Amino acid sequence: MEPFRWIWGYIREYKYKMLFGLFMVLSVSVLNMINPYISGIIVDRVILGKNVGLLTGLIGIMLGTTLVKSVIRYVFQMNFEYISQNVVFKVRENIYSRLQELDFDFFDRTKTGDIMARMTGDTDAVRHFTAWVIYQIFENLMIFIFAMTMLFTINFYFALILLAVAPFIGFLAYNLAQEVRPTFFAIREQFSRLNSVVQENISGNRVVKAFAKEDYEIFKFQRENDAFRDRNLDSARVWEKYLPVLDSMAGVLLVIMVIAGGVFVIKGYLTLGQLVTFNSFIWALNNPMRIAGWLINDTQRFVAASAKIRILLGTEPKIKNSEFIIKSDTIKGFVEFRNVSFSYGDEKVLEDISFKASPGQTVAIIGPTGSGKSTLVSLICRFYDCDRGELLIDGINVKDMDIRMLRANIAAAMQDIFLFSDTIEGNIAYGVPDASVEQVEWAAGIAGASEFIEGFPEKYDTIVGERGVGLSGGQKQRIALARALLKNPSILILDDTTSSVDMETEHEIHKSLNSFYREKTTFIIAHRISSVKNADMILVIDNGRIIEQGKHEELLAGKGYYYSVFINQFGDFDNVYGQEVG
Ligand SMILES: Nc1ncnc2c1ncn2[C@@H]1O[C@H](COP(=O)(O)OP(=O)(O)OP(=O)(O)O)[C@@H](O)[C@H]1O
Ligand SMILES: [Mg+2]
Repeated sequence: MEPFRWIWGYIREYKYKMLFGLFMVLSVSVLNMINPYISGIIVDRVILGKNVGLLTGLIGIMLGTTLVKSVIRYVFQMNFEYISQNVVFKVRENIYSRLQELDFDFFDRTKTGDIMARMTGDTDAVRHFTAWVIYQIFENLMIFIFAMTMLFTINFYFALILLAVAPFIGFLAYNLAQEVRPTFFAIREQFSRLNSVVQENISGNRVVKAFAKEDYEIFKFQRENDAFRDRNLDSARVWEKYLPVLDSMAGVLLVIMVIAGGVFVIKGYLTLGQLVTFNSFIWALNNPMRIAGWLINDTQRFVAASAKIRILLGTEPKIKNSEFIIKSDTIKGFVEFRNVSFSYGDEKVLEDISFKASPGQTVAIIGPTGSGKSTLVSLICRFYDCDRGELLIDGINVKDMDIRMLRANIAAAMQDIFLFSDTIEGNIAYGVPDASVEQVEWAAGIAGASEFIEGFPEKYDTIVGERGVGLSGGQKQRIALARALLKNPSILILDDTTSSVDMETEHEIHKSLNSFYREKTTFIIAHRISSVKNADMILVIDNGRIIEQGKHEELLAGKGYYYSVFINQFGDFDNVYGQEVG
């Protein structure tokens, strides 16, 4: 019942339209009774009774009802289409809003293809159910009931004989529904997989080409495509088994009618006209039987799709505002880690991290790849919650802060840069859409991006491709940096943001950053000593722990990990900035 209760939540808003539509369906069902009934009258009164004068009137009524029926059908079909389009509009909107609420943990676990399947195929099954299946079930049920009522009033026993097939049909329909349901779940599941393969192939097309793995990708696709075809065939095998049986039930009805009808007419229990009426009503009994299989299929398809959608809509973000959040609009930028530990699932990544930073300070983080640097700063944005210890900002536990307020005051240029397919200006102003042209240019200036942007023919209006295709790695990094700077945050996080920029440009960027970011707290993650040596505090992370901590000179004097990295990089570093090393 759950899927139907769920969809009712969406349809309720249109309940009067729904009622109106169903009433129209009801009228058509009633009108459907007129023509078979008149056929009987024509036989009894006009043909057998030789009352030819009645003919024009009767035929007029038949044509009239046919016309009226078509008009009403048009109106209610449009009506149901309207309701269904609005229902899936809302469903899509809710899925999308839920996706905005869900956190990194969800996106770490969920494939894009799965999400796309929810947004496309699954919502379409819901639309089809609302637009078509609901009224078809109602219409066929009504026609069946009306036709039965008509037949019972004309001749009780004859109608009873015809009804004898009904239990068989009920039994078959029930079995079909039970058997076909799991096959539709399997189809939805496989559709997600197919989507994921296509989506990954498109996003990764450069890797595919670079490794000349087109054949392998085609093989991977074929495997899922094969499976998708097979799941559909599995399902078809189930219903193909039932549909002919349901269909032949309809044929059996005809046979019963001819034999029993003949006997009834010969014995004089039934007039010939009444037999003709019965015969005309046969479709009203047949049709629901024929279509029952399809309706059961479509309903099960809806059940499977809606279950998938409901799981997505019911996924709660792990990170959300607590009930009692401390209200404030801005943060100053005091950051304190108190014995923070964190793991991704079972994988321990950060262990007992403690340090303090104040506004105006620059904290640099350096350490081997995979040591947990990016993870550490993602805790500041509360992309994840720490398992043990506390993370305080302005002395308040981040869990007691409004997440949106917190993130609005932090700007992060992340390691895996993402640019939208939009203009360069649109990308830089993403966080501050009403920023003026001057502000955008200012941010680009500090980020060391002005020069190459001005070099493009369209300048700031240059459209960058999906994910920033068309820009070099260093150019992308600088646009991402400008995007972060324009937000004018209290806490600025630069995760490997200048790694692809040449050392000279990087030096310039850091110089301008220092002059503009006096009152901010800045975190810089880098691999080059040159990027971190001027920081107020340098954290050296290894294997999730802070192994060294202090200023450049102190760390050099300590002759530990930092010192050895320095020695390794010293060569080229000395040549460029040797005079500043001191
Ligand atoms: N979303 C995730 N799910 C599970 N494990 C993750 C996830 N992100 C990172 N890890 C693991 O956590 C560890 C630390 O990763 P992190 O990205 O913090 O390293 P890093 O110090 O930033 O490395 P790099 O210098 O290469 O950027 C790694 O072992 C990585 O495999
Ligand atoms: Mg990293």
